[in-house]
Amino acid sequence: MINILVVGSGGREHALGWKLAQSPKVGMVYHAPGNGGTSNNVNIEVHEIEKLAQFASEKNCLTVVGPEVPLSAGIVDSFTKKGLAIFGPTQDAAKLESSKVWAKHFMKRNGIPTARFEIFDDATKAKAYVKSVDYSLVVKADGLAAGKGVIVCNDKSEAISAIDKILVEKSFGSSGSKIILEEKIDGVEASYIAISDGNTAYPMATSQDHKRIYDGDMGSNTGGMGAYSPTGVIDDVLAKDIQQNVIEQTISSMKKEGAPFCGFLYAGIMVKDGKPFVLEFNARMGDPECQPIMMRMESDLLDYIKASIDGTLSSLPLISWKLQSAVCVVLASKGYPDLYPKNEEILGLEVQDKNSYVFHAGTKRIDGKVLTNGGRVLGVTAIGDTLQDAISNAYGRIGKISWSSKYCRTDIGKKGLAWNQ
Ligand SMILES: Nc1ncnc2c1ncn2[C@@H]1O[C@H](COP(=O)(O)OP(=O)(O)O)[C@@H](O)[C@H]1O
Ligand SMILES: [Mg+2]
Repeated sequence: MINILVVGSGGREHALGWKLAQSPKVGMVYHAPGNGGTSNNVNIEVHEIEKLAQFASEKNCLTVVGPEVPLSAGIVDSFTKKGLAIFGPTQDAAKLESSKVWAKHFMKRNGIPTARFEIFDDATKAKAYVKSVDYSLVVKADGLAAGKGVIVCNDKSEAISAIDKILVEKSFGSSGSKIILEEKIDGVEASYIAISDGNTAYPMATSQDHKRIYDGDMGSNTGGMGAYSPTGVIDDVLAKDIQQNVIEQTISSMKKEGAPFCGFLYAGIMVKDGKPFVLEFNARMGDPECQPIMMRMESDLLDYIKASIDGTLSSLPLISWKLQSAVCVVLASKGYPDLYPKNEEILGLEVQDKNSYVFHAGTKRIDGKVLTNGGRVLGVTAIGDTLQDAISNAYGRIGKISWSSKYCRTDIGKKGLAWNQ
């Protein structure tokens, strides 16, 4: 038996812990710091790397890291030095996510398909470039910005304001000391995630996120308001193309450049005319995508995590998936992604339903009550024989959950219906 420490407190981490707890080889699953839905919570924050290492060592845990911040701070390097088993990329390999500028250069020099771009640290030169191109632009801050550092512009004046916001007003601090001006690609977005041991990469199930706050993909970008898996946006031909030309090309190039990538490699893909363009890499699972993906995963996740740490992935079969669809609808507190209330009691969580599971994110448990404690509060995740069944099961379960400021999109998965026939 092996004990697990899951680092993080979102729906992603709840889903990873839930799946790992189903393995007959797993003993205790601890969450640091966890949330109101996870059990065996340990009161250590994700950036307290030394304390996490001490806990993992005392309890003899294999550590699984959910979020990007500790990965880019080098949690994997420091655990590995101490001889502790940990799943995720090193600080160098996590640069695929932590520096968008580095990732764009990496893609360019290794022939990985991505939108044309230029890099600037000077606002005057950046603005001159905006005037010189005849296509729409996306302006991106280089470093981690909690999903807020990318501005998709409709015209040149929006691009100029975005440059001012990042380079002049320094709205993202040092994460915005360099920017990418990149061609806007009009296409359909989907998520392609793989698990790698540095040499071999196996695909996880495909998925599609819903990033905007309101129905119909309107309003501001969020951390994600829902996701479903699989997505018909990525058919078998496209999946093969992405697996070879994006994932395997990235894994072999990272190895060649001396920073082999172990962990979940997430490619945000824009599909245009049947061709994939990489919008960004994440060095970890997506959230909410992780929730429907875990619900569909048939294989034992622990086997793949261990093989990824040991470098033995190629000795395992490809991961097997339930043929059904799964959908996760995020329940948020009204006001998210800006200001929202906290500490409201959530009711209806005790309802049991074999087709759904409620993963927690921004919640806490106090005196037996579950209270809201963040913008994205719950991820109600359901499975069904068709995408439509999964959607109905998720919204059916959501109808039984209530708190004063509960908000969710009513159309999660709907855009998949046209593709998932
Ligand atoms: N080149 C592009 N063309 C069109 N849309 C883009 C482009 N790059 C990014 N986007 C949009 O902006 C969103 C956020 O960009 P992304 O690079 O994924 O950064 P992050 O997730 O770190 O905010 C994407 O999900 C996509 O909707
Ligand atoms: Mg993204």
